[in-house]
Amino acid sequence: MKLTMVAATGGIGRHLVEQAVAGGHDVTAVARRPRDLPDGVRAVAVDLARPDMRALASAIRGADAVLSALGPRNPRADAGITSRGTRAIVTAMQAEHVRRIIIVSAAPVGPVAVPGRPKPPRHDPGDGIFMRYLGAPLTRAMFGRHYADLAMTEQILRDSGLEWTVSRPPKLTDKPLTGRYRTALNRNIRGGFSVPRADVAHHMLAMMDQPETIKQIVGIAS
Ligand SMILES: NC(=O)c1ccc[n+]([C@@H]2O[C@H](COP(=O)([O-])OP(=O)(O)OC[C@H]3O[C@@H](n4cnc5c(N)ncnc54)[C@H](OP(=O)(O)O)[C@@H]3O)[C@@H](O)[C@H]2O)c1
Repeated sequence: MKLTMVAATGGIGRHLVEQAVAGGHDVTAVARRPRDLPDGVRAVAVDLARPDMRALASAIRGADAVLSALGPRNPRADAGITSRGTRAIVTAMQAEHVRRIIIVSAAPVGPVAVPGRPKPPRHDPGDGIFMRYLGAPLTRAMFGRHYADLAMTEQILRDSGLEWTVSRPPKLTDKPLTGRYRTALNRNIRGGFSVPRADVAHHMLAMMDQPETIKQIVGIAS
């Protein structure tokens, strides 16, 4: 398949590119500073804080799917980048008639309200007692601004008319790829507290062949 990887130089992004190339896909990598990409990958430089829409459209044109692991490398300098960048990606996809997009959000985002969804559920249905009353509220207190941006990002996708899927992992680790992880539609994974970045990338690629994940939030954890 012809795939466009956004944030291709990030933690998950690098695994996405490597695994897609190894799987024989034709990969275009979008990054603000493309570097150290595997041979054969077409690189397109786009800073999504102030996107060059022509360059972004050229990276997306003709793609079967866009996979994005965009997020703030630096919480201050990159604040709001996930929603801003995703809005630009969605606009470019709509203009280029590319339909499928898979992005990374985060497990604690479900109960975060946004204007289009003012009354979200109080708890994610997959969370057990510990996550409901301690883990998720604690991480939301620490990363509230970023989770608000991820909730906005999810809303942009819900409003896009595209064939979107949101992956919501818990804590990411740099452990090697296992290919063994649990997933669930529209809920977090009970007792799933972490997952390797490599496995999140593996699952994002697998979901391209899983039409049941279209327009769904998907929980993943080891
Ligand atoms: N950390 C966790 O435990 C955790 C848990 C659950 C969910 N998540 C979510 O998963 C996301 C991805 O995780 P990760 O570890 O892969 O993140 P990461 O390594 O920080 O990668 C973020 C990517 O976004 C890119 N980026 C940031 N600002 C950009 C801009 N203005 N223009 C273009 N690209 C830009 C970065 O580019 P550069 O390579 O140029 O810096 C990098 O490639 C996180 O952002 C977070 O929302 C994280």
